[in-house]
Amino acid sequence: MTLKPRETEFLQLTRELLDSDQVRMMGRWRHHGPVTTLDHSLFVAYNAYRAARLLRLDVRAAARGGLLHDLYLYDSRDKSAHPGNQCFDHPRAAARNAAGLTDLSDKERNIILSHMWPLGGAFPRSWEAWLVDLVDTVCAALELTRIYRPSRLRERLGVRPLAPLPA
Ligand SMILES: [Fe+2]
Ligand SMILES: [Fe+2]
Repeated sequence: MTLKPRETEFLQLTRELLDSDQVRMMGRWRHHGPVTTLDHSLFVAYNAYRAARLLRLDVRAAARGGLLHDLYLYDSRDKSAHPGNQCFDHPRAAARNAAGLTDLSDKERNIILSHMWPLGGAFPRSWEAWLVDLVDTVCAALELTRIYRPSRLRERLGVRPLAPLPA
């Protein structure tokens, strides 16, 4: 299968992250209905990247921030996995995990921390943060209504999730 130039550029921008166990591990948990956190994050990242490219914004921050915005790495339905409200907790957990994984810029960190605004978290301080916040909402709606199945994008881009946890 031949990739489009924009798909190749997206993969170049995110290669370091897509090859990591932490990002691939997101395939273990469901985020919206049957959609895994990995498929959702990739869907958000790719569309945030495309929108940033169209608007001549920072494509690297949009792609990387989008891919890492939900890197909280636990089962959100498990109440013992985080201290309080998932809406407030998961952006902070994602920012912590992302900082341990890669050299995170201030802009990328704010993209992660502000992606739930205005429901919770930090205020978006860049156009890219506003973009990821908006794209996350649109992607979540498409996933929850089953209008789009984002595993198709993951398969097309050749991203392999880590094996699921043993039952
Ligand atoms: Fe989130
Ligand atoms: Fe999200």
